[in-house]
Amino acid sequence: MTITSDNRKLRVLGIETSCDETAAAVVVRRGPFQGEILSNLVRAQLDEHAAFGGVVPEIAARAHVEVLDKLVAQSLEQADTAWDDLDGIAATAGPGLLGGVLVGLMTAKAIASARHLPFIAVNHLEAHALTPGLTDGLAPPYLLLLVSGGHTQLLIVHDLGSYERLGTTLDDALGEAFDKTAKLLGLPYPGGPEVEVQASSGDTKRFHLPRPMTGRETPDFSFAGLKTALRRQAEQRVPLSSTDIADLCASFQQAVGDVVSDRTAKAMELYEAKVSLPNARALVVAGGVAANQALRVRLEQLCAEKGFSLHVPPVSLCTDNGAMIAWVGAERLARGLTDGFDFPGRARWPLDPKAAPAIGAGAKA
Ligand code: KG4
Ligand code: ZN
Repeated sequence: MTITSDNRKLRVLGIETSCDETAAAVVVRRGPFQGEILSNLVRAQLDEHAAFGGVVPEIAARAHVEVLDKLVAQSLEQADTAWDDLDGIAATAGPGLLGGVLVGLMTAKAIASARHLPFIAVNHLEAHALTPGLTDGLAPPYLLLLVSGGHTQLLIVHDLGSYERLGTTLDDALGEAFDKTAKLLGLPYPGGPEVEVQASSGDTKRFHLPRPMTGRETPDFSFAGLKTALRRQAEQRVPLSSTDIADLCASFQQAVGDVVSDRTAKAMELYEAKVSLPNARALVVAGGVAANQALRVRLEQLCAEKGFSLHVPPVSLCTDNGAMIAWVGAERLARGLTDGFDFPGRARWPLDPKAAPAIGAGAKA
Protein backbone atom coordinates (compact mmCIF):
# COMPACT_ATOMS: atom_id res chain seq x y z
CA MET A 1 0.00 0.00 0.00
CA THR A 2 1.35 3.45 -0.85
CA ILE A 3 1.54 5.72 2.12
CA THR A 4 0.27 9.16 1.14
CA SER A 5 0.84 12.22 3.27
CA ASP A 6 -2.77 12.10 4.40
CA ASN A 7 -2.95 8.63 5.91
CA ARG A 8 0.45 8.39 7.55
CA LYS A 9 0.18 7.55 11.23
CA LEU A 10 2.62 9.78 13.03
CA ARG A 11 3.72 9.91 16.65
CA VAL A 12 5.10 13.25 17.81
CA LEU A 13 6.49 14.65 21.06
CA GLY A 14 5.35 18.22 21.72
CA ILE A 15 6.97 20.77 24.07
CA GLU A 16 5.36 24.01 25.28
CA THR A 17 7.20 26.70 27.28
CA SER A 18 5.90 30.01 25.90
CA CYS A 19 4.34 31.37 29.09
CA ASP A 20 3.92 30.05 32.62
CA GLU A 21 3.19 26.39 31.94
CA THR A 22 5.88 23.83 31.21
CA ALA A 23 4.30 21.06 29.17
CA ALA A 24 5.25 17.90 27.27
CA ALA A 25 2.97 15.45 25.47
CA VAL A 26 2.88 12.60 23.00
CA VAL A 27 0.18 12.55 20.32
CA VAL A 28 -0.62 10.17 17.48
CA ARG A 29 -2.06 11.46 14.23
CA ARG A 30 -4.41 8.84 12.86
CA GLY A 31 -5.47 10.78 9.76
CA PRO A 32 -6.10 14.33 8.57
CA PHE A 33 -7.37 16.40 11.51
CA GLN A 34 -7.79 13.27 13.62
CA GLY A 35 -5.49 12.80 16.53
CA GLU A 36 -5.21 10.95 19.81
CA ILE A 37 -3.43 12.00 22.99
CA LEU A 38 -1.16 9.36 24.50
CA SER A 39 0.15 11.57 27.30
CA ASN A 40 -0.25 15.22 28.25
CA LEU A 41 1.69 16.57 31.21
CA VAL A 42 1.47 20.18 32.35
CA ARG A 43 3.43 21.74 35.19
CA ALA A 44 1.91 25.14 36.03
CA GLN A 45 4.10 27.77 37.72
CA LEU A 46 1.33 29.46 39.67
CA ASP A 47 3.22 29.43 42.99
CA GLU A 48 6.33 30.98 41.46
CA HIS A 49 4.43 33.99 40.07
CA ALA A 50 1.53 34.43 42.52
CA ALA A 51 3.42 36.85 44.77
CA PHE A 52 3.99 39.19 41.80
CA GLY A 53 0.37 39.18 40.56
CA GLY A 54 1.46 38.17 37.06
CA VAL A 55 4.02 36.18 35.10
CA VAL A 56 7.67 37.25 35.63
CA PRO A 57 9.54 36.27 32.41
CA GLU A 58 12.90 35.50 34.02
CA ILE A 59 11.33 33.33 36.72
CA ALA A 60 9.24 31.53 34.07
CA ALA A 61 12.29 30.71 31.93
CA ARG A 62 14.25 29.35 34.90
CA ALA A 63 11.31 27.26 36.08
CA HIS A 64 10.99 25.71 32.59
CA VAL A 65 14.68 24.72 32.68
CA GLU A 66 14.24 23.03 36.06
CA VAL A 67 11.39 20.70 35.11
CA LEU A 68 11.37 20.23 31.34
CA ASP A 69 13.70 17.21 31.08
CA LYS A 70 11.73 15.31 33.73
CA LEU A 71 8.42 16.17 32.07
CA VAL A 72 9.64 14.96 28.69
CA ALA A 73 10.81 11.65 30.21
CA GLN A 74 7.48 11.21 32.02
CA SER A 75 5.43 12.04 28.93
CA LEU A 76 7.24 9.32 26.96
CA GLU A 77 6.85 6.83 29.78
CA GLN A 78 3.14 7.51 30.20
CA ALA A 79 2.66 7.20 26.45
CA ASP A 80 4.54 3.88 26.50
CA THR A 81 6.75 5.38 23.83
CA ALA A 82 10.47 4.88 23.26
CA TRP A 83 12.59 7.47 21.46
CA ASP A 84 12.65 5.18 18.41
CA ASP A 85 8.84 5.13 18.26
CA LEU A 86 8.76 8.88 17.60
CA ASP A 87 8.39 10.36 14.12
CA GLY A 88 9.12 13.94 15.06
CA ILE A 89 9.78 16.50 17.80
CA ALA A 90 7.69 19.68 17.94
CA ALA A 91 8.07 22.76 20.12
CA THR A 92 6.41 26.14 20.45
CA ALA A 93 8.63 28.65 18.64
CA GLY A 94 6.38 31.60 19.51
CA PRO A 95 4.61 33.84 20.08
CA GLY A 96 5.40 34.18 23.75
CA LEU A 97 7.97 35.19 26.33
CA LEU A 98 11.21 34.71 24.45
CA GLY A 99 13.31 33.38 27.36
CA GLY A 100 10.80 30.61 27.98
CA VAL A 101 10.22 29.88 24.29
CA LEU A 102 13.97 29.34 23.84
CA VAL A 103 14.11 26.74 26.63
CA GLY A 104 11.57 24.50 24.86
CA LEU A 105 12.86 25.25 21.39
CA MET A 106 16.50 24.42 22.20
CA THR A 107 15.49 21.26 24.05
CA ALA A 108 13.41 20.06 21.08
CA LYS A 109 16.19 20.85 18.61
CA ALA A 110 18.75 19.01 20.76
CA ILE A 111 16.54 15.90 21.00
CA ALA A 112 15.77 15.99 17.27
CA SER A 113 19.46 16.36 16.46
CA ALA A 114 20.58 13.57 18.80
CA ARG A 115 17.85 11.15 17.66
CA HIS A 116 17.99 12.14 13.95
CA LEU A 117 14.31 13.06 13.97
CA PRO A 118 12.47 15.80 12.07
CA PHE A 119 11.97 19.02 14.02
CA ILE A 120 8.79 21.11 13.72
CA ALA A 121 8.55 24.70 14.97
CA VAL A 122 4.96 25.36 16.04
CA ASN A 123 3.01 28.60 16.28
CA HIS A 124 1.32 28.49 19.69
CA LEU A 125 -1.76 30.29 18.34
CA GLU A 126 -2.11 27.74 15.55
CA ALA A 127 -2.00 25.04 18.21
CA HIS A 128 -4.97 26.61 20.03
CA ALA A 129 -6.71 27.04 16.66
CA LEU A 130 -6.38 23.41 15.57
CA THR A 131 -7.15 21.72 18.91
CA PRO A 132 -10.68 20.67 17.78
CA GLY A 133 -9.01 18.21 15.38
CA LEU A 134 -7.67 16.49 18.45
CA THR A 135 -10.86 16.63 20.51
CA ASP A 136 -13.71 16.53 17.97
CA GLY A 137 -12.04 15.36 14.75
CA LEU A 138 -13.09 18.72 13.31
CA ALA A 139 -11.41 19.78 10.05
CA PRO A 140 -11.30 23.36 8.71
CA PRO A 141 -12.89 25.55 7.54
CA TYR A 142 -14.45 26.95 10.70
CA LEU A 143 -14.81 30.22 12.54
CA LEU A 144 -12.45 30.64 15.48
CA LEU A 145 -12.90 32.82 18.54
CA LEU A 146 -9.48 32.92 20.19
CA VAL A 147 -9.69 34.32 23.70
CA SER A 148 -6.65 34.13 25.94
CA GLY A 149 -4.49 36.26 28.22
CA GLY A 150 -2.80 37.88 25.23
CA HIS A 151 -5.39 37.58 22.45
CA THR A 152 -8.94 38.28 21.50
CA GLN A 153 -9.46 37.54 17.85
CA LEU A 154 -12.07 36.23 15.45
CA LEU A 155 -10.48 34.34 12.56
CA ILE A 156 -11.44 32.10 9.69
CA VAL A 157 -9.44 28.89 9.86
CA HIS A 158 -9.24 27.98 6.16
CA ASP A 159 -6.67 25.21 6.54
CA LEU A 160 -3.47 24.29 8.35
CA GLY A 161 -1.30 27.39 7.96
CA SER A 162 -4.09 29.49 6.41
CA TYR A 163 -5.90 32.00 8.62
CA GLU A 164 -7.89 35.16 7.91
CA ARG A 165 -8.43 37.60 10.73
CA LEU A 166 -11.88 39.19 10.82
CA GLY A 167 -11.56 41.11 14.07
CA THR A 168 -9.25 41.73 17.01
CA THR A 169 -9.05 43.72 20.22
CA LEU A 170 -8.02 47.34 20.00
CA ASP A 171 -6.62 47.35 23.54
CA ASP A 172 -6.76 44.66 26.26
CA ALA A 173 -7.22 40.98 25.58
CA LEU A 174 -10.26 39.40 27.22
CA GLY A 175 -8.21 37.22 29.60
CA GLU A 176 -6.24 40.33 30.55
CA ALA A 177 -9.51 42.16 31.29
CA PHE A 178 -10.54 39.28 33.57
CA ASP A 179 -7.13 39.28 35.25
CA LYS A 180 -7.12 43.07 35.77
CA THR A 181 -10.67 42.97 37.15
CA ALA A 182 -9.60 40.31 39.63
CA LYS A 183 -6.55 42.31 40.70
CA LEU A 184 -8.64 45.43 41.18
CA LEU A 185 -11.05 43.52 43.40
CA GLY A 186 -8.25 41.93 45.43
CA LEU A 187 -8.81 38.42 44.04
CA PRO A 188 -5.84 36.07 43.62
CA TYR A 189 -3.92 35.48 40.38
CA PRO A 190 -4.75 34.16 37.80
CA GLY A 191 -7.94 36.16 37.92
CA GLY A 192 -10.14 34.65 35.23
CA PRO A 193 -11.29 31.56 37.14
CA GLU A 194 -11.64 33.62 40.37
CA VAL A 195 -13.90 36.17 38.69
CA GLU A 196 -16.03 33.33 37.35
CA VAL A 197 -16.40 31.75 40.81
CA GLN A 198 -17.37 35.10 42.36
CA ALA A 199 -19.78 35.88 39.51
CA SER A 200 -21.69 32.64 40.06
CA SER A 201 -23.19 34.00 43.30
CA GLY A 202 -23.53 37.64 42.15
CA ASP A 203 -26.25 39.84 40.66
CA THR A 204 -25.61 40.42 36.94
CA LYS A 205 -27.86 43.50 36.86
CA ARG A 206 -26.71 45.44 39.91
CA PHE A 207 -23.96 47.45 38.20
CA HIS A 208 -24.45 49.20 34.88
CA LEU A 209 -21.38 48.66 32.76
CA PRO A 210 -20.78 49.58 29.09
CA ARG A 211 -20.84 47.08 26.20
CA PRO A 212 -17.97 48.53 24.09
CA MET A 213 -18.00 48.08 20.29
CA THR A 214 -21.40 46.38 20.10
CA GLY A 215 -23.22 47.08 16.84
CA ARG A 216 -20.03 47.95 14.93
CA GLU A 217 -19.64 46.63 11.39
CA THR A 218 -16.21 45.04 11.94
CA PRO A 219 -16.07 42.36 14.64
CA ASP A 220 -13.41 44.10 16.72
CA PHE A 221 -13.29 44.30 20.52
CA SER A 222 -12.29 46.82 23.15
CA PHE A 223 -12.21 46.14 26.88
CA ALA A 224 -10.36 49.16 28.28
CA GLY A 225 -13.57 51.20 28.77
CA LEU A 226 -15.30 48.32 30.51
CA LYS A 227 -12.37 47.91 32.90
CA THR A 228 -12.32 51.65 33.68
CA ALA A 229 -16.09 51.73 34.28
CA LEU A 230 -15.77 48.79 36.66
CA ARG A 231 -12.92 50.50 38.53
CA ARG A 232 -15.03 53.66 38.99
CA GLN A 233 -17.97 51.69 40.36
CA ALA A 234 -15.68 49.76 42.70
CA GLU A 235 -13.87 52.88 43.95
CA GLN A 236 -17.16 54.51 44.86
CA ARG A 237 -17.98 51.64 47.21
CA VAL A 238 -14.68 51.04 49.02
CA PRO A 239 -14.42 49.09 51.32
CA LEU A 240 -16.07 46.43 49.19
CA SER A 241 -18.23 43.81 50.86
CA SER A 242 -18.18 40.23 49.59
CA THR A 243 -21.58 40.89 47.99
CA ASP A 244 -20.20 43.96 46.19
CA ILE A 245 -17.34 41.86 44.81
CA ALA A 246 -19.65 39.06 43.66
CA ASP A 247 -22.05 41.56 42.04
CA LEU A 248 -19.23 43.45 40.30
CA CYS A 249 -17.87 40.16 38.92
CA ALA A 250 -21.33 39.03 37.79
CA SER A 251 -22.06 42.39 36.12
CA PHE A 252 -18.65 42.34 34.42
CA GLN A 253 -19.09 38.80 33.17
CA GLN A 254 -22.58 39.65 31.88
CA ALA A 255 -21.21 42.64 29.95
CA VAL A 256 -18.44 40.43 28.52
CA GLY A 257 -21.05 37.85 27.45
CA ASP A 258 -23.10 40.52 25.66
CA VAL A 259 -20.04 41.93 23.88
CA VAL A 260 -18.66 38.55 22.83
CA SER A 261 -22.09 37.36 21.56
CA ASP A 262 -22.59 40.54 19.54
CA ARG A 263 -19.08 40.52 18.03
CA THR A 264 -19.19 36.79 17.25
CA ALA A 265 -22.61 37.18 15.58
CA LYS A 266 -21.09 39.85 13.32
CA ALA A 267 -18.15 37.55 12.51
CA MET A 268 -20.59 34.74 11.65
CA GLU A 269 -22.18 36.99 9.00
CA LEU A 270 -18.79 37.77 7.47
CA TYR A 271 -17.74 34.13 7.69
CA GLU A 272 -20.86 32.96 5.84
CA ALA A 273 -20.23 35.49 3.07
CA LYS A 274 -16.67 34.21 2.64
CA VAL A 275 -17.02 30.46 3.25
CA SER A 276 -19.87 28.98 1.27
CA LEU A 277 -19.19 25.27 1.88
CA PRO A 278 -22.13 23.33 3.28
CA ASN A 279 -21.53 21.87 6.77
CA ALA A 280 -18.91 24.51 7.53
CA ARG A 281 -21.07 26.41 10.00
CA ALA A 282 -18.91 25.67 13.01
CA LEU A 283 -17.63 27.95 15.75
CA VAL A 284 -14.55 26.94 17.72
CA VAL A 285 -13.66 28.71 20.95
CA ALA A 286 -10.03 28.40 22.01
CA GLY A 287 -7.61 29.92 24.53
CA GLY A 288 -7.77 30.08 28.31
CA VAL A 289 -10.97 32.15 28.54
CA ALA A 290 -12.83 29.37 26.70
CA ALA A 291 -12.80 27.66 30.11
CA ASN A 292 -15.42 30.19 31.28
CA GLN A 293 -18.73 28.32 31.62
CA ALA A 294 -20.93 31.43 31.54
CA LEU A 295 -19.37 32.51 28.26
CA ARG A 296 -19.84 29.02 26.92
CA VAL A 297 -23.58 29.15 27.70
CA ARG A 298 -23.89 32.48 25.85
CA LEU A 299 -22.10 31.08 22.82
CA GLU A 300 -24.27 27.94 22.89
CA GLN A 301 -27.33 30.21 22.68
CA LEU A 302 -25.82 32.19 19.82
CA CYS A 303 -24.86 29.07 17.86
CA ALA A 304 -28.35 27.59 18.31
CA GLU A 305 -29.84 30.86 16.96
CA LYS A 306 -27.50 31.07 13.98
CA GLY A 307 -27.40 27.36 13.06
CA PHE A 308 -23.72 26.89 13.94
CA SER A 309 -22.23 23.94 15.81
CA LEU A 310 -20.12 24.91 18.82
CA HIS A 311 -16.79 23.26 19.62
CA VAL A 312 -15.07 24.09 22.89
CA PRO A 313 -12.16 21.89 23.93
CA PRO A 314 -12.23 20.52 27.50
CA VAL A 315 -10.69 22.94 30.00
CA SER A 316 -7.37 21.06 30.16
CA LEU A 317 -6.96 21.57 26.41
CA CYS A 318 -8.22 25.19 26.36
CA THR A 319 -5.36 26.32 28.56
CA ASP A 320 -1.74 25.91 27.48
CA ASN A 321 -0.61 22.32 27.01
CA GLY A 322 1.85 20.18 25.07
CA ALA A 323 -0.71 18.00 23.28
CA MET A 324 -1.83 20.86 21.05
CA ILE A 325 1.81 21.52 20.11
CA ALA A 326 2.50 17.86 19.33
CA TRP A 327 -0.73 17.80 17.33
CA VAL A 328 0.17 20.71 15.05
CA GLY A 329 3.64 19.17 14.76
CA ALA A 330 2.08 15.93 13.51
CA GLU A 331 -0.22 17.71 11.03
CA ARG A 332 2.69 19.70 9.64
CA LEU A 333 4.93 16.66 9.52
CA ALA A 334 2.27 14.76 7.55
CA ARG A 335 2.51 17.50 4.92
CA GLY A 336 6.28 17.49 4.92
CA LEU A 337 6.45 20.85 6.69
CA THR A 338 9.51 20.43 8.89
CA ASP A 339 11.95 23.12 10.04
CA GLY A 340 15.68 23.65 10.25
CA PHE A 341 17.63 23.99 13.50
CA ASP A 342 18.16 27.66 12.65
CA PHE A 343 14.43 28.38 13.17
CA PRO A 344 14.35 31.31 15.63
CA GLY A 345 12.17 31.86 18.67
CA ARG A 346 9.60 34.56 17.94
CA ALA A 347 8.14 36.94 20.50
CA ARG A 348 5.51 37.95 17.90
CA TRP A 349 4.05 35.61 15.31
CA PRO A 350 0.57 36.55 14.07
CA LEU A 351 -1.61 33.88 12.46
CA ASP A 352 -2.70 36.17 9.66
CA PRO A 353 0.40 38.07 8.50
CA LYS A 354 -1.69 40.13 6.06
CA ALA A 355 -3.87 41.63 8.81
CA ALA A 356 -2.88 45.07 10.08
CA PRO A 357 -0.81 44.89 13.27
CA ALA A 358 -2.99 45.16 16.34
CA ILE A 359 -2.12 45.61 19.99
CA GLY A 360 -1.13 42.24 21.38
CA ALA A 361 -1.63 40.49 18.03
CA GLY A 362 0.74 37.56 17.96
CA ALA A 363 2.60 38.80 21.00
CA LYS A 364 1.40 36.49 23.73
CA ALA A 365 -0.79 33.46 23.68
O1 KG4 B 1 -4.44 30.58 26.72
P1 KG4 B 1 -4.04 30.77 28.15
O2 KG4 B 1 -3.98 29.52 29.00
O3 KG4 B 1 -2.63 31.40 28.29
C1 KG4 B 1 -2.20 32.68 27.91
O4 KG4 B 1 -2.99 33.58 27.62
O5 KG4 B 1 -0.96 32.80 27.92
O6 KG4 B 1 -5.06 31.82 28.81
C2 KG4 B 1 -4.92 32.32 30.13
C3 KG4 B 1 -6.00 33.36 30.35
C4 KG4 B 1 -5.80 34.13 31.64
O7 KG4 B 1 -5.99 35.51 31.38
C5 KG4 B 1 -6.88 33.57 32.55
O8 KG4 B 1 -7.32 34.47 33.53
C6 KG4 B 1 -7.97 33.25 31.55
O9 KG4 B 1 -7.28 32.72 30.43
N1 KG4 B 1 -8.93 32.28 32.09
C7 KG4 B 1 -10.23 32.57 32.33
C8 KG4 B 1 -10.79 31.40 32.90
N2 KG4 B 1 -9.82 30.45 32.98
C9 KG4 B 1 -8.69 31.01 32.47
N3 KG4 B 1 -10.93 33.68 32.12
C10 KG4 B 1 -12.23 33.66 32.47
N4 KG4 B 1 -12.85 32.60 33.03
C11 KG4 B 1 -12.17 31.46 33.27
N5 KG4 B 1 -12.78 30.41 33.83
ZN1 ZN C 1 -2.17 29.91 25.05
